Amino acid sequence: MGGKNPFMKSDDPPPPQRPYTLRVIDEGGHEHNIAVDPDKVPYSRNGRPGSILDIALAHGVELDHACGGVCACATCHIIVRSGLEGCNEPTDEEEDQLDDAYGLTAVSRLACQCVPTGQCDVVVEIPNWNRNLARESDH
Ligand code: FES
Repeated sequence: MGGKNPFMKSDDPPPPQRPYTLRVIDEGGHEHNIAVDPDKVPYSRNGRPGSILDIALAHGVELDHACGGVCACATCHIIVRSGLEGCNEPTDEEEDQLDDAYGLTAVSRLACQCVPTGQCDVVVEIPNWNRNLARESDH
């Protein structure tokens, strides 16, 4: 599943203009360093074009995305450890969904909505409680 949420009022943010490195620390603590090429955005059909979800899934990094990346859940909750200043501003819709995220922090984002601009490298962490909650709700 994927695509654009028809109820989203905001347009997609501009894709990155410069190459940058996205480091994703997964639930097991493994680091994935991804060289993002602006010419290849969007990498997949998940989340906003150029979003962290889009990039991570296309590079084999598992990241839960129960709603398919249309800002209708909070399973793609990530914590931006550095480079938040190089990401688009969250929309009201994203903040509403984040309100339901377990373990919300001041630097939490939804991976399907967070689109780095390329002005700096970005480091994100997938909280391990995300996976546990998503798996428990499958039963
Ligand atoms: Fe549902 Fe991101 S995948 S809000």
